[in-house]
Amino acid sequence: MTGLFITFEGGDGSGKTTQIARLAAALRAAGRDVVTLREPGGTVVGEGVREILLDPAHEELSPMAELLLFTASRAQLSLTVIKPALDAGKIVLCDRHADSSVAYQGYGRGLDLAMVRAINTWATGGLVPDRTIVLDVEPHAGIAAATPHTADRLEREAIAFHERIRAGYLEMAAAEPDRIVVVERDATDAVWSGVLAALAPVLARAGITLGA
Ligand code: TYD
Repeated sequence: MTGLFITFEGGDGSGKTTQIARLAAALRAAGRDVVTLREPGGTVVGEGVREILLDPAHEELSPMAELLLFTASRAQLSLTVIKPALDAGKIVLCDRHADSSVAYQGYGRGLDLAMVRAINTWATGGLVPDRTIVLDVEPHAGIAAATPHTADRLEREAIAFHERIRAGYLEMAAAEPDRIVVVERDATDAVWSGVLAALAPVLARAGITLGA
């Protein structure tokens, strides 16, 4: 059995968690071994790095330090958890991966896109998802979903930052149509059928059919 690496991307509050939980349940019901992970985090080291990254007190964090911290968490997760799980034939569902750094630190912060990609290729040992779903949502609608007084450091950024990220994801999807699929986030049921349709080809290759 071949492993399958599926990632979910999108702006803050785009509803990734709900879709990942539903997909994990459906795949488990189909008898597959599923691992769900999130970034930053997913390892003891990564959860520590996550606290540093999301703490609103760390306003002074430079874009490059931010990139390297996200990527450090990803290196740990990719090499010690994701790759071994894929080698064991499991399906790995990850809430964000390297595309988040291209979108947030590249398009959002303005760091050089080629550099962000190169650092990530090095840090993950060249790991690339089999398929990536971008849940697309209007930035203001998405961010409003987060409770304002508990908003983390990145959620507090200006709307223009989140608009650059959204445009970045759409550009990335247009550049890699065979891997990255955009699913509009409107009514919940439409999102789930969009996710199923986007995954159908890779799931079929792994011998899996999921009904709506
Ligand atoms: P999280 O609470 O996991 O948010 P979400 O539910 O939106 O995924 O916080 C992760 C935040 O970190 C989110 O604002 C996106 C941002 N981020 C980056 O800026 N770069 C990255 O490489 C990753 C993985 C996340």
